[in-house]
Amino acid sequence: MWFFLFSGLLACTGKLASASCPIEMSPPKVVVKFGDSLIANCTSLTTPIEGMGWESSFGGTGLQSGVTTLPLKIDNVKDWIIEPQCFVNLLDGRQCLESLPVVVYKTPASVSMSLDLSENTPMVEGQHYPMKCEVADVAPASHLVVYWHKGEKIFHKETFNDTNLSPVSKTSVLDVIAQRGDDGTPIWCEAKLDFWPALQHSPMMKSKSREVAVLYPPTFTKPANETVEVLAGKKMTLNCTATGNPTPVYKWHFPPPLQEMDKNRDVNDSVLTPSFELPGTYGCTASNSQGISTKYFNVIEATGDRTTFAAIVGVFAALGVLLLIAGAFFVTPDGTFSFNKGNYVPTSSGPV
Ligand SMILES: *[C@@H]1O[C@H](CO)[C@@H](O)[C@H](O)[C@H]1NC(C)=O
Ligand SMILES: *[C@@H]1O[C@H](CO)[C@@H](O)[C@H](O)[C@H]1NC(C)=O
Repeated sequence: MWFFLFSGLLACTGKLASASCPIEMSPPKVVVKFGDSLIANCTSLTTPIEGMGWESSFGGTGLQSGVTTLPLKIDNVKDWIIEPQCFVNLLDGRQCLESLPVVVYKTPASVSMSLDLSENTPMVEGQHYPMKCEVADVAPASHLVVYWHKGEKIFHKETFNDTNLSPVSKTSVLDVIAQRGDDGTPIWCEAKLDFWPALQHSPMMKSKSREVAVLYPPTFTKPANETVEVLAGKKMTLNCTATGNPTPVYKWHFPPPLQEMDKNRDVNDSVLTPSFELPGTYGCTASNSQGISTKYFNVIEATGDRTTFAAIVGVFAALGVLLLIAGAFFVTPDGTFSFNKGNYVPTSSGPV
C-alpha cells in the first residue's frame, strides 16, 4: 500500500516537473558588457497558450497574447544585477516561469604588476621575491582569473572567491624564488574574465612585462674533471666553459714545469689551446661575484706509434674472431658449407 502511494506520488511530481516549463531560451545564457545591449528570445514549446511575457527591471513586456516567441531587449545594460524571467500562461490556468542567467561584466580599468625590486636591479638565485598583480575595477570577481606568465609558460593561476557582482579590485600575491633559468625572461600577469566555455573570446588585459636578470655562480657545461690524451701532431683543447651571471672570468693553472714560464701570461679564455703539450694537471677556475668553481684536466701522453700498432693488432684479432664464428655457424662437421644447421624438417602444417 505504501509502495503504491509512493510510486503514485513520483509519477505525479515527475509529470508536473516536465510539463511545468516547456520554455526555451535563446541564447540559454547571456554574458553582456556593462553598457551594451542585450537581446534574448523566449519560446514556448507548448501551443496554443494563453499568453507569455518577460518580467524584468529593464525591458519587461507584460503579458502578450498571440505569440509563442517573445524577445527581451535591453538597449543599455546599466545594472550589475539583472534577473529577467520569462513566463508562459498555459490554457489550463497554470503558469510556468524560467529565469535567464545573465552575467554583466566590466574589463579591468588597469592591470599592473609590481615587484619588490627597483628597476635594473638583478635578482639573486635562490632568493625570494614577492610579486603583486593588481587588477583594478573589474566585474564580476568570481569570473576573474589572474595568470602569471614567465616567457611562454604560465607558472601560476589564481581565482577569487568573491560573490560581489559589482566592480571590485583584486590582487594576486606571489612569492617567486629566483632561478637561473629565469635570467632575461619576461614576466607579466594577465587578467582574464573566464566565462563558460561557449564564449570564445574571453576579455583579457595584460600588465606591462618585466625582464629580470638573475645572478648565479659559474657552472661548467661539462662539470666533471677530464682526462685528456695528447696525440702527437694534434692540438690539445681544454674546455672550461661555464655559464653564470655575471659572465665568469677564467684563470688557468699549469703543471709545475710551466708555472714559472706562464706566470705573467694572462689567460682569460674559457677554451685553452696551448702551444705546449706537456702532461700534468691543468686547473681552471671560473669565477664571478656569486662564486668560484674549479675544474681539473689530467693531461696524459699517448704516443702515436703505440696507438697505431694497437689498432692494427685489434683489427687482426677482430677478423680472427669473425672467421671463427662464421666457421661454427655455416660449416657442417664433414666440411661442407650449409645453412640448414639443425634438424628442421618441413611438414605440411608448417608455414608456407
Ligand atoms: C530571436 O528571434 C528572432 C525571430 O525569430 C530572430 O530573428 C533572432 O535571431 C532571435 N534572436 C536570438 C538571440 O535568438
Ligand atoms: C676534481 O679533482 C679535484 C682534485 O683532484 C677533486 O678535489 C674534485 O672533487 C674533482 N671534482 C670532480 C667533479 O670530480
